This record gives sequence, C-alpha cells and structure tokens, in this order.
Amino acid sequence: MLQFFVLTCFVVTQVTFASSNFCINGESLEHTWLNYNEQYLFDHWLGYADHYEAHLPRPTSKKKQPIRMLEIGVQSGGSVRLWKKCYGEQLHFTGLDIDNRCKRMKNKKENIHIVIGSQTNTSFLSQVCEKYGPFDIVIDDGGHTAHMIRTTMAAMLPSEACMREKSVYVVEDTHTMSKCNDEKSYCGDPTDISSIPCDAFLQQHSQWFSISNPALHLVKETAWAARVVSVHLYDSMIFYELGTKSENKRITKGWDSFSNIEEKVQQSEYTMQRKVHAHPKETSKLLV
Ligand SMILES: C[S@@+](CC[C@H](N)C(=O)[O-])C[C@H]1O[C@@H](n2cnc3c(N)ncnc32)[C@H](O)[C@@H]1O
Repeated sequence: MLQFFVLTCFVVTQVTFASSNFCINGESLEHTWLNYNEQYLFDHWLGYADHYEAHLPRPTSKKKQPIRMLEIGVQSGGSVRLWKKCYGEQLHFTGLDIDNRCKRMKNKKENIHIVIGSQTNTSFLSQVCEKYGPFDIVIDDGGHTAHMIRTTMAAMLPSEACMREKSVYVVEDTHTMSKCNDEKSYCGDPTDISSIPCDAFLQQHSQWFSISNPALHLVKETAWAARVVSVHLYDSMIFYELGTKSENKRITKGWDSFSNIEEKVQQSEYTMQRKVHAHPKETSKLLV
C-alpha cells in the first residue's frame, strides 16, 4: 500500500512538473497548441512553445495591464486564435500581413486588429506602431528573407513608439535562410543566418571596441544596440530582449594575487599563430 502511495505521488509530481501552466487556461503553451481544433489553420514547429514560455511575459488576469503583441505574418489565422487563448483578454493583438484575406481575423471586441501592408515598408510600420504600439512582444513570422528580417528590425528596435522599454522581439523560422541557391532564395548570403543575431552581439561590444580600438570601424553602434540586453539563439528562433542595461563594474577582491603574465602569453601565442599561418614565402616578410 505504502509503495503504491509513493509511486502515485512520484507519477503525479512528474506530471505536474512536466507541464507548465503558462497560459491563462492553466495549460502550457505546448498543450494549448496541441489541443487546438478550430477552423483557422495553425502550422507551427512544436519546439517553439517552450522557448516562448522562457522569454515572453506571463499572462495574468490583470485586464488593465494589456500586453500588446504585433505578429508579422497572419496567414490562415491559427496563431491569432492561439495567442488569444493563451493570453485571454489581456492581449491586444495586431496582425500584419501583405495578404488582404487576413482581414477575416479582425475582431474589435476581442482587441484583434489586422493591418495590411509589407513589413519592408518602414513608414507603414511607423504608422502601425503609432496606432497600436508600443509593443511588449513583436514576432516576425512574415516573409522570412534576410532582407525583410533586417529591414523590419532596423525600423522597429530603435523606436520607442514600436518597442516598449522592456519588451521582446522574436524572429521565427530562421532556417528558411538556409535556402540560398534556388529560385526562391531567402538569403543574400549563406552567412545571413548567423550574421543577423551576431550583429546584435557585436553591437553589444561596441563600447569595448571604442575603448580598445577607436580607429576600427567594425562596430559602429546602431541606434538599437543600446536597447538590446540579451540575444537568445535556438534552432530556427532568435529572441532579442530589450531593457535598460545596468552599468557593468569590474570588481577585485582578496589580496593574494599573481603578477599578470597575460601579455607575455598573448605575445607568444600570436607570434606562434603568425608562424603557423604564414605562407613560407611570406614568413620572412611577416616576422621582421
Ligand atoms: C509563415 S506565414 C505566417 C503564419 C502564422 N503566423 C501562423 O503561425 O499561423 C507567413 C505570412 O507572412 C506573409 N508575408 C510574406 N511576405 C510579407 C511581407 N513582406 N510583409 C508582411 N507579410 C508578409 C504571408 O502573406 C504569410 O501570410
């Protein structure tokens, strides 16, 4: 009997911990997606659900604190319904698409707005932000080309009218950029898939470059660099978390220290590298 009780407790604990209750319906986002069985098609990658839970604000029952979401790419409308199921009345949803048919998802009573236009039209984006923003969450699930992703980010991230001070910007389906050679190419260069998130990482180091090597113009701080606190990378997804950066102070504590041999080590490392990499004919030139 005792064994049965212990086993039951173990199983119940496992089930409880295995599924979160992220959504207001008490279910995890993954369960909400899996249990969906309504008219408007939802076509997604299941693994995204956990990443969303890790980075999006948790829905609450506080209707007076709306969560404003912009989803670029509405298509058949399944994701509109599912975000609404998860966030409930708190969600003020704006869907943006080039396809006029997406207007069918409009529902003023439910605070669902649909706007028609291209994500590469930056003045259109500004109008959308002025009218429905600033957003707590922006999801780019639109045309998925590197050009579209970059253009939309460059327009939205620096703008206080578009992104709230503490907000999340998500790029979905980055794997599409691996389609680089055929007729419908999603990238300008095969490295776009990594250079898009790396741009932000590089920008985050701009202050270090400006101290160590101001002549190097590799890292010119963009208007949005100062707002991106962290970048999270997953298979096919990027999350940019925006917020206020706190000052990063170096601390030294304790009293027993070695003298710094870093410089000597670096010197010999780089001399070695130059020897190894240099073409035999060029060695004499390089090592003078
Ligand atoms: C992947 S689907 C969106 C799927 C939807 N979020 C869902 O989960 O059900 C991509 C959508 O992006 C739209 N789209 C393509 N290019 C666009 C552009 N330049 N601007 C805005 N939307 C675009 C397409 O019309 C299509 O409806």
